[in-house]
Amino acid sequence: MDTHQAEGPAIRVQGLEKSYKDLRVLRGVDFEVARGGIFALLGSNGAGKTTVVRILSTLLKADAGTARVNGFDVAGQAAGVRESISLTGQFAAVDEILSGRENLVLVARLRHLKAPGTVADDLLRRFSLTEAGSRRAATYSGGMRRRLDIAMSLIGNPPVVFLDEPTSGLDPEARIEVWQAVEELAEGGTTVLLTTQYLDEAERLADRIAILHGGRIIVNGTLAELRRLLPPAEVEYVEKQPSLEDVFFAVVGADSQGREARANEK
Ligand SMILES: Nc1ncnc2c1ncn2[C@@H]1O[C@H](COP(=O)(O)OP(=O)(O)OP(=O)(O)O)[C@@H](O)[C@H]1O
Ligand SMILES: [Mg+2]
Repeated sequence: MDTHQAEGPAIRVQGLEKSYKDLRVLRGVDFEVARGGIFALLGSNGAGKTTVVRILSTLLKADAGTARVNGFDVAGQAAGVRESISLTGQFAAVDEILSGRENLVLVARLRHLKAPGTVADDLLRRFSLTEAGSRRAATYSGGMRRRLDIAMSLIGNPPVVFLDEPTSGLDPEARIEVWQAVEELAEGGTTVLLTTQYLDEAERLADRIAILHGGRIIVNGTLAELRRLLPPAEVEYVEKQPSLEDVFFAVVGADSQGREARANEK
């Protein structure tokens, strides 16, 4: 199958709805992601980010609405979607017993690639893991493990990559390493959809940012567009641009946010 299908957006989501029993998580989610670049889906704990990613990667069925990834419908053309994407979940899928290199070779074999060793060595180099490549993954730091996880998901060069909270639980240095890996990925022409609850992450990485709140996308635009939603604060004649954090809490409502997320957990 030719996975480099088509023109049009990399991802198109229309009217997506999903409930878990009585809990209405997605209430009509709409957004589009253009080809190339990094799109951040931003939201508090429990907003439904992982639910959106699971629907887009065909792991979960929506109750209503449509979604296309790389031109394929997630409901009717799941095989096409799966061949077009990779998914790095919120929790790393690395086999700790194996070395970093062995993990990569294993995935390359599973994908029936020729020369899995070469594929593995190229990826180790790209993610600055060459030195650590022969060590068991169990000995890796959180950042190294996450980079290996992302490297594994890139085997076979999928045109669309989903990263669900790629830096949660990492220290500042490791986050920067992962950010660099994600930026390189996008520079290579891959479309990246990442979810995050970190405003600085979206601010640093994303070409476009969509805020998921109350089951809908309530804001969607570039960082500059989002900033324009708030007037700059004037401090002693010096204009201070609103940060994404200011915008986030203004549109989401600073105090509703924590409470609603906690209510959703129940
Ligand atoms: N399989 C499930 N069964 C029941 N409820 C679920 C299920 N999966 C998720 N939920 C609930 O749906 C809501 C959205 O969950 P989801 O994992 O999509 O949020 P999220 O935005 O990814 O949150 P986080 O930032 O914590 O990862 C939460 O309230 C969660 O408890
Ligand atoms: Mg999640």
